[in-house]
Amino acid sequence: MESTFKWRDEWLLGIPTLDNQHQKLADCLHRLVTECTRLHGQNGNDNGSENDTETREALMKLLDELCARTRAHFSIEEDMMLAANYPRYADHRREHVMLLAELTSTFAAPIKDGRCNMNPEILGALKSWFIVHVAHSDRQFANWLKRDIHTAAAHDPTGGSDNVLSLNDNRD
Ligand SMILES: [Fe+2]
Repeated sequence: MESTFKWRDEWLLGIPTLDNQHQKLADCLHRLVTECTRLHGQNGNDNGSENDTETREALMKLLDELCARTRAHFSIEEDMMLAANYPRYADHRREHVMLLAELTSTFAAPIKDGRCNMNPEILGALKSWFIVHVAHSDRQFANWLKRDIHTAAAHDPTGGSDNVLSLNDNRD
């Protein structure tokens, strides 16, 4: 249970900005699952800590952090796609809108209402939410971006150094 969001190097995309943010998102998800499980139990059984105001407040803070990090991350990704003229930008942006809606309605709202427990079904859905985005959609973009940069560098007398600089940006 606790290792569901433990970082795996197979999730690395080779784009430091994105990898750095994905690692922070995974860490935030890991803390959220751990805290939620502590509060409600793995199968929705009350652990006897429902009135633990401190734990509940910590959970709300984690939820806010996850939503804020996700929004910021999607926004930076979209900026990178626009700057690179990524041909699948519109599809990827649509996916971001759906993922954000799912995050707030499927996961965040029940937790805020005190109804959520990290049962296997919710945990599986949350894992898919993260993995589909990182391992599929973002990998597509990363592969395209890396290929594009190699192509640009091959035709650029400066070696495409400007593009490489933008990839090493480690914005949070
Ligand atoms: Fe991403």
